[in-house]
Amino acid sequence: MQEFIFRNPTKLIFGKGQLERLKEEVPRYGKKVLLVYGGGSIKRNGLYEEVMKILGNIGAEVIELPGVEPNPRVSTVRKGVDICKREGVEFLLAVGGGSVIDCTKAIAAGAKFDGDPWEFITKKAPVTGALPFGVVLTLAATGSEMNSGSVITNWETKEKYGWGSPFTFPQFSILDPTYTMTVPKDHTVYGIVDMMSHVFEQYFHHTPNTPLQDRMCEAVLKTVIETAPKLINDLENYELRETIMYSGTIALNGFLQMGVRGDWATHNIEHAVSAVYDIPHAGGLAILFPNWMKHVLDENVSRFAQLAVRVFDVDPAGKSERDVALEGIERLREFWSSLGAPSRLADYGIGEENLELMADKAMAFGEFGRFKTLNRDDVLAILRASL
Ligand code: NZQ
Ligand code: ZN
Repeated sequence: MQEFIFRNPTKLIFGKGQLERLKEEVPRYGKKVLLVYGGGSIKRNGLYEEVMKILGNIGAEVIELPGVEPNPRVSTVRKGVDICKREGVEFLLAVGGGSVIDCTKAIAAGAKFDGDPWEFITKKAPVTGALPFGVVLTLAATGSEMNSGSVITNWETKEKYGWGSPFTFPQFSILDPTYTMTVPKDHTVYGIVDMMSHVFEQYFHHTPNTPLQDRMCEAVLKTVIETAPKLINDLENYELRETIMYSGTIALNGFLQMGVRGDWATHNIEHAVSAVYDIPHAGGLAILFPNWMKHVLDENVSRFAQLAVRVFDVDPAGKSERDVALEGIERLREFWSSLGAPSRLADYGIGEENLELMADKAMAFGEFGRFKTLNRDDVLAILRASL
């Protein structure tokens, strides 16, 4: 194992009826609340009304920032920062999926930053603090509800970067699976692909002696693989939603990365793709991940074979380790396709025209990836294989 320090300060509040706990949690941080949400799903499913009622009952003074985009824009972050600074906002409440949470994190940090938020998002300046914020999660996918990461897009310059800071953990996150029941099938599938991808990013490393880390990753993957096909045919099943919601949080709240250093190259390439084409994050991952796996397979064939046997039930009898590994990658691709996820860039109408541009975007901070360090040619090869 690698040496590690683990600290996750987010209070996780999970289960049916837990929205009521806003009553106790919000007043700890102040009365003036900025309510951040997306394009209207919370109005259609009644959550907005429930949240407003609770905030009203505790006498909160609520200012609203609706309209956070999927792949949230720095322009919306700037709007939120202006409101916070002008109105003296004391606390932010994100009600939504990863995009709303990520945008809220950037607003919270921007409110305590002297300058344009794009500076800390591009790591040209350090984050200097953040207003406290809480989360009501409506979509199981990113893990943003219990981590300090955020991904923000600058649509003018077509750039999308992840950033994070110890200041940007949510104070609390309320996860009631009931509110994820209205997530349509496509976004339910994207969420499943995203959480599985987070596990893969942490599973592929070169650290020796990680038997528990491996088994924890495999347990999350097996659970999601067992649950997902049932869920997409039964979208309002509470227990299946509950399992997927818990899986999404565990996949990226730091538990799986204790003692290991994950790869994260595929996420970096995907962010370049969705910066140029504005496609859903996990749609891009479903296309890229199997091709990244094939590209880096020879870095550690045994690890891929272990995944194939333990998670995808590949029978190794009479096969070479390499063939077992390749069969596992194929099963992953088939599994995601069986859920309805895309498998080629062409599924989004993306051809060769911007491959070089996407490779340049991915290389913005130089070579990357810890399992295999990728250079520009590697990125182009993975993108080409994804056409
Ligand atoms: O905007 P609204 O109207 O709320 O609709 C959203 C949006 O259209 C809808 N939705 C959310 N909850 C719903 C619902 N529809 C019906 N019922 C509900 N209960 O779903 C759509 C997608 O929402 P979004 O928040 O964009 O999805 P997701 O949670 O997948 O977040 C994606 C963003 O997170 C970033 C991605 O790059 C992308 O920008 N990521 C953030 C990470 C992190 N902070 O740790 C890690 C991830 O790897 C990822 O990169
Ligand atoms: Zn992701």
